[in-house]
Amino acid sequence: MPATTRIVLSSDHAAIPLRRAIAQHVASKGFAVSDIGPTTPESTPYPQHGEAAAQHVARGESDLGIIVCGTGQGIMMAANKVKSIRCGVCSDTFSARMIRQHNDANMLALGGRVVAEGLALDIVDAFLDAAFEGGRHATRVDMITAIEAAN
Ligand code: RB5
Repeated sequence: MPATTRIVLSSDHAAIPLRRAIAQHVASKGFAVSDIGPTTPESTPYPQHGEAAAQHVARGESDLGIIVCGTGQGIMMAANKVKSIRCGVCSDTFSARMIRQHNDANMLALGGRVVAEGLALDIVDAFLDAAFEGGRHATRVDMITAIEAAN
């Protein structure tokens, strides 16, 4: 990804330190970062933060999104309810690379209670360094979009 790529970040209360570490990491690589919070540690429902980051991407205000909750699962499910969002939870670098190369994922979800910071930053790098391969994968991604339109 070119460093001009705009990245939106959000989390729930369970993953604020990891979200901040990711924000600092991607900003240090020159990416334009929108960290939309939350900023305080009170318990806050992951669906609203997944939706907010996903809408940022869907509206074209960011190119990619990175979202974090305890497991990454709930916030990923919420984000995927927003039209045009393809978000995968990753706990390994191979999957993070593949969701860009094959699935044209525009969002990455991580579990702040699952992966330690060092691995999480490697996963983020794998996601950002990979590019969609198109070709037969584009046909399959188009099929996902057709499911979204039909349901
Ligand atoms: C919050 O306790 C927790 O449920 C949330 O961060 C996440 O893991 C949900 O999927």
